[in-house]
Order: sequence, then structure tokens, then C-alpha cells
Amino acid sequence: MNLFAERNSRIETENAFKVGPHIVRVEQQKCAVIKLNLGEPDFSVPQHIKAEIKRQLDLDNTHYCDPKGLLSLRQAICYQINETRGLKTNPEQVVVFPGGKPSIGLAQQVYCEPGDEVIYPSPGFPIYESFIRYVRAIPVPLHLEESANFTFSPEQLENLITPRTKLIYLNFPSNPTGGVAGKALLEATAKVILERCHPNVRVYSDEIYENIIFDAQQYRSISSVPEMEERTIIAGGFSKTYAWTGGRIGYAVFPTVKEADVFKTLNINYFSCVPPYNQEAAKEALENPLSKAAVKKMVETFEARRNLIWLKINEIPGITCQKPGGAFYLFPNISGVCENLGLIEKHQRLSKEQQSSPDYIFQMFALYEHQVAVLDRKSFGQIGADGKYFLRLSIAADQAVLEEGVRRLKAASEDLSGLDKFLKERPDLIPAWIFAWFRMRAASFSGFSACSTLEKLHNFTYRLDQFLEPPLVRQVASS
Ligand SMILES: Cc1ncc(COP(=O)(O)O)c(C=O)c1O
Repeated sequence: MNLFAERNSRIETENAFKVGPHIVRVEQQKCAVIKLNLGEPDFSVPQHIKAEIKRQLDLDNTHYCDPKGLLSLRQAICYQINETRGLKTNPEQVVVFPGGKPSIGLAQQVYCEPGDEVIYPSPGFPIYESFIRYVRAIPVPLHLEESANFTFSPEQLENLITPRTKLIYLNFPSNPTGGVAGKALLEATAKVILERCHPNVRVYSDEIYENIIFDAQQYRSISSVPEMEERTIIAGGFSKTYAWTGGRIGYAVFPTVKEADVFKTLNINYFSCVPPYNQEAAKEALENPLSKAAVKKMVETFEARRNLIWLKINEIPGITCQKPGGAFYLFPNISGVCENLGLIEKHQRLSKEQQSSPDYIFQMFALYEHQVAVLDRKSFGQIGADGKYFLRLSIAADQAVLEEGVRRLKAASEDLSGLDKFLKERPDLIPAWIFAWFRMRAASFSGFSACSTLEKLHNFTYRLDQFLEPPLVRQVASS
């Protein structure tokens, strides 16, 4: 009898979290890592929001509450959505979730039968693709082209729509590319959907970066296009706008109350409710005029960093990078770097167990040998990503840190001998338990440096891997 149900083999993950243990290892072994892998603003939650959380705790507002979300917060969300998008939603259409993430997978559970097709942007937030096979639906990536600054053409979308299409994810400004859709693209996209899709097909519009938008652009939602309100789920949250990723408050506005109530039932089944003290503070975030200035300051900082780092990254030979219109990421194409380092051929020569993709190898090489953490293309959708070599850099760090990060990436992009050494040793493939065991042993001998011992270990464990049966290596590596 298997321990785990088969469906567990059909779910993926978010690499931004998975890379954490590698960073810890490198920091224990070598030195501090420049972390450009994280998707969270490097700002504090604005003071007035923090004060409201504390005030609510002192009021003992720490008990179960409405599983759909506090009515007062749902009213505030509705007001803001209606004001900014010209809609007429009501609070009963709103459901509050623990973050922007849960409604992504729940939407697939609610709307998709096995065999239904889900269209989603690729590169895109990994959770869109991750869940699709878990619910036995079929992933249909909508490939965002670098040449179109990571948007898509209405024809491209039209070609993907079939009678089995059930859900279409859109995300502007986009993670990981920072791409933003203009009015014309949103209208053309809506036209295709209205003409080609059954009225029960839902558009899940992930608008979590709506407030982080540059170059004096005005944010536009597909829900504002006539007749789209009835088909669009507007998803948003407080993690990015208010630098409050640990608060875990997100929401979705559904086309009908009936749909919202189905999600409320899932909330009851999964987590009962979202902490009420945080919900009250989320309401404060929406209603207190101080929020506007705090968000403006953060966005201006991101824009200044975007301007600088975009120029600097484009100066690295072998890298081309589009200018993002929003969010806080850069998504450079590193094909030239992979070619300059001979990484594509070197990757082909690796054993099956060591293969992944050239940009993943570069990601790990940059981390282990140059102490800078970024993410590769496949961290943002795997299907159809072969042969595309990109990195995602978060600009949610101080300017000096970002500049040092770019300097390290440049050094990595020129470090042929370092790459060959890395490929021989592959420290990133050392199973966690071997690493932990040797650290413990090395630490117990005085006068023994854990770091140098570990460095010698790389070679040893690499050779050890050759002795172990491949399935065992995989099992241990993933534990
Ligand atoms: C596009 C997108 N949607 C949703 C989320 C999830 O946000 P939260 O942290 O509020 O769950 C993220 C987080 O990175 C994101 O980038």
C-alpha cells in the first residue's frame, strides 16, 4: 500500500521558497548571499496599519469570525474595486482568503472537471500551473513573448481556446516579467473571450500588483471592459501593496454571490476564517488616507531602482532585458551568457540526474560560487520552457545591495573556470542529510573548520552519488 495518494505526484511548488535551504547552506559555508530571489517588498508595513493590528489585539479581537471575511472589510474592498474599475459589485460577492494565493488553486477546484482546460500565462506565477494537474485539468500555457514585452496577442489567446476551456488566468502587472497590458490589449482580449467562450468560462484576473505600476501609467482591469464584469474573478491582496506578506490577507470578487458562497464553504472546510485583527487592519489600509503616501513612496523607490538596475543588467555581455512596467522584478534573457559559458553543450553532457536546464545550472552556480540568489525560467512555468533561458531578479532590496547583486551576476557570467569546478562538484546536489551530518561532525572536532571540511566533501559526495542507486539518490535528495 502506498503511503501517499497518487495526486501528490501531480503538484509542483514555488521555487522562491524551495531555494531557501540552498541559501542557508551557502551562508553557513561561505558568506552572506545577496537575495534577489524573494517576491516581497523590502519595506515595513506602514505604521498606521501596524498600530491597528496592535489595537485590535488589545481589543481581544482574536476569535473566529465570518468565514467569508468581515463584512466591514468586504465593504471596503468593494468600495475600492468599484471606484477604481467603474463596477457595481456588492460585498456579498467578496471572499477574504489567507493571502492572494489560496483562491488560485481553489478556483481550479471549484470550476474545473477532469479534462477541462486551463489557460495561464507562461512565464507566470508558478501556482497557476502547479495546481492544474492536481485537479486533473489540462494545462494550456499562453506563452508571453519577450519581443512583445511579455504580453500576448489576441490571436495567440484565440488559438488556445477550445470548447473545453474553463478558466483563463491573466496577471498584470506580471510576476515574473513586470509586463503590463494596455487598454487596447485588454479590450481585444475581452472581445476574443466574449466571442469564443461559453458564459460559464471564468477569467481569473490576478491583480495583486495593481498599485505597483511605473511611468505614470494608469492601472486597468479587464473587468472594466463592458460585459466582462459578469465573467471575471478579480483577485487582489495586501501582501505587495502594503509590504505585508506575513499578514496573509487576500481576496477575490466573484461575478455572482452564488460563486462567492461556494468559496466560503471551502474556507470553512480548509481554515474556518482569516484572523480578524488582521482583517481590521486591512480595512484600515484601504481607508486611512496615510496609505496613499506610503504606497507612493514605495512605488517611487521601486521605479528608481528599476531604472538603474535595468540599465546595469543590460550592460552585462550576453544579457538583454525588457523594461518592466510594474511589479518589482526584472526578467533578463541570459541566452547569450549560456552561450558564452558553453553552458548549453555542458548541460547536454551532464548525466540525467544532474540535468535540469542551463539557466537553472547558472542560477545554482551564481548562488554557490558567487553568492547571489535569483530564479530561473522554469520557476515560472515548466511546460514549453525548454530552450528559453531567463532569470528573475527581485528589485526589492537596497540600491547598493542590488548593484552588488548585478556585479556578482556579471562575475558569474564571465567565470568559466568557476563554472567547470562547480559542474564537477555540484554542491547543490549534495543531499541535505549528508550536509547536516558532516556539519555536525566537523563542528564536534575543535580546530576543524566546518567550511573547509564541507568544501572537501563536495567531491566525495559527488562520487558517492555515483555509487548509490539512482532512485535512492532521488529519494534522499528530495527528503
Ligand atoms: C502574481 C501573484 N499572485 C499571487 C501571489 C500570492 O500572494 P500572497 O503572498 O498574498 O499569497 C503572488 C506572490 O508572489 C504573486 O506574485
